[in-house]
Amino acid sequence: MTSLESMARLRDELRRVGKRVGFVPTMGALHPGHQSLVERARAESDVVVSSIFVNPLQFGPSEDFERYPRDLDGDRAKLEAAGCDVLFTTSPSAMYPHGFQTYVVPEGSLAARFEAAVRPGHFRGVATIVLKLLNIVGPTRAYFGRKDAQQLAIVKRMVSDLNVPVQIVPCPTVREPDGLAMSSRNAYLSAEQRAAAPAIYRALRAARARICKGERSAAALRTELTSDLRSAFGVDPDYAELVDPASFEPLGEAIPEQRNVLAPILAIVAQRVGTTRLLDNARLDEDGL
Ligand code: PAF
Repeated sequence: MTSLESMARLRDELRRVGKRVGFVPTMGALHPGHQSLVERARAESDVVVSSIFVNPLQFGPSEDFERYPRDLDGDRAKLEAAGCDVLFTTSPSAMYPHGFQTYVVPEGSLAARFEAAVRPGHFRGVATIVLKLLNIVGPTRAYFGRKDAQQLAIVKRMVSDLNVPVQIVPCPTVREPDGLAMSSRNAYLSAEQRAAAPAIYRALRAARARICKGERSAAALRTELTSDLRSAFGVDPDYAELVDPASFEPLGEAIPEQRNVLAPILAIVAQRVGTTRLLDNARLDEDGL
């Protein structure tokens, strides 16, 4: 589907015949992480719709909108292999026609720190396009990777705050065999940077191991996470923090614990590797990293 009108007509028809639609929004440059979202949608839906739209609104003026990797033919084959039925892709001028002036602007703790602080306007762009896509596609469920944890939290919040009739399904981060979280931006890394990049995963695992051994000081964990990253990359991370996964409020000094059950703790990292920013995160109160 290459026009908003044709996609909306299909939405209405699917609704009329009572089909459950699973939706995977993407910016293309698809990797196995995206494919895992499509496979999950396939297993839980009658019809799987995926979108490819490199959204200019979520890129800052000095960011990589122009050079963001694009490969529509390759992406189409990957979507088909993963079980996608419908690909929706359209142009920026169709999505944001002349006169467009209404935006979704997240506010509060979730939209004040971390990616929001480093990339002003980014989540306004994400929230606006995600709401537009949800309206155009009208899915029963929409699938988002946990790798972009702050994006996921903001989308969940928006859907709840604005009563959008969709279920947001968070899906696990897919990793390379050496632990690097899959990302379309990994394509920017030189061979040397690519070899260094899994140090982020190792630092997150080390933080988890410290918690398992009984460390309960958020400050000590933060300091060690930061120093592991600094020694691997030679520069400080943009941030390396322990936060509440729903609010993104940084944890206080002592990690809360009740009857040996830890409060939810999300460790979040943004690390510059050359000119590329890599994001990763992990729940430290759960297994599975
Ligand atoms: O995660 C992404 O690829 C994008 O931010 C999204 C959700 C497709 C919105 O453009």
